[in-house]
Amino acid sequence: MSTLAASPTRTLQIRPLHAALGAEVLGLDLSQPLADDDFRRIHRAHLDHHVLVFRDQRITPAQQIEFSRRFGPLQIHVLRQFQLPGHPEILVVSNIKDDQGQPIGLGDAGHYWHSDLSYKEKPSLGSMLHAQELPAEGGDTLFANMHLAWDTLPAHLKQAVQGKRAKHSYLAKYEALRARNPWRPKLTEAQIAEVAPVLHPIVRTHPETGRKALFVSEHFTTRIEGLPDDESQALLGELFAHSVKPEHLYRHVWQAHDMVFWDNRSLMHLAAGCPDHLRRRLNRTTIEGDVPF
Ligand code: SIN
Repeated sequence: MSTLAASPTRTLQIRPLHAALGAEVLGLDLSQPLADDDFRRIHRAHLDHHVLVFRDQRITPAQQIEFSRRFGPLQIHVLRQFQLPGHPEILVVSNIKDDQGQPIGLGDAGHYWHSDLSYKEKPSLGSMLHAQELPAEGGDTLFANMHLAWDTLPAHLKQAVQGKRAKHSYLAKYEALRARNPWRPKLTEAQIAEVAPVLHPIVRTHPETGRKALFVSEHFTTRIEGLPDDESQALLGELFAHSVKPEHLYRHVWQAHDMVFWDNRSLMHLAAGCPDHLRRRLNRTTIEGDVPF
């Protein structure tokens, strides 16, 4: 654990949570102005641990947006319906319905392994989720370290994917999700145009650390360029199964007022879900990253 004075009365601590990834940030109040030195330490810790858990953050949506912007421009989710009123930069992730029975947020966000916005030309650098209301049971978020997934990939699979690209599509699973959850809005032509499929390298290089990572996911990656469909499906299946081996994972069990900031260039994540009758609500900001290479 390393420490540094964050203010005259508090000490910033970064405490690793798990062997594969994840660290807790203690002694920092994000409702207060963030000193440049503290920002630098957080940035470094984010690159080293890939998931940072800031405990007990009593921050407003505007403060979450301001902190997120320190890392880059924010991305606005295509489902405008689930923006936090007055704050388009925040996507409400929630299974709660309002008095008219309408969902207040994206209730089934993240129910397949994915990296946020990988279907965009510039996928997300990282995302922040701030807990607003947590269920008494379930609702965990799992993270998979895609650097480890690449490092430990068997040689014949490394060879099979080296230099190849795969297609990422927001639309691929949309109608299946909508059939299961009819509250999901029908997409307009403009929304469909906004999420046209893209090709990305299957093995990407982290733009800040230079580490290689697998960059495919069960949710958004639909096929490998240049391979027949059956071969593409079989190879993707092997990559997905390898990526989420238990030794690559960290499971985040949420505590009240946690704010979690993860690196979408290094990780995939999954919302484990909670019983339907329990309420869960979190505010998400998404920071734009680079074109993967
Ligand atoms: C997400 O995929 O951004 C949502 C994750 C969660 O709700 O745990």
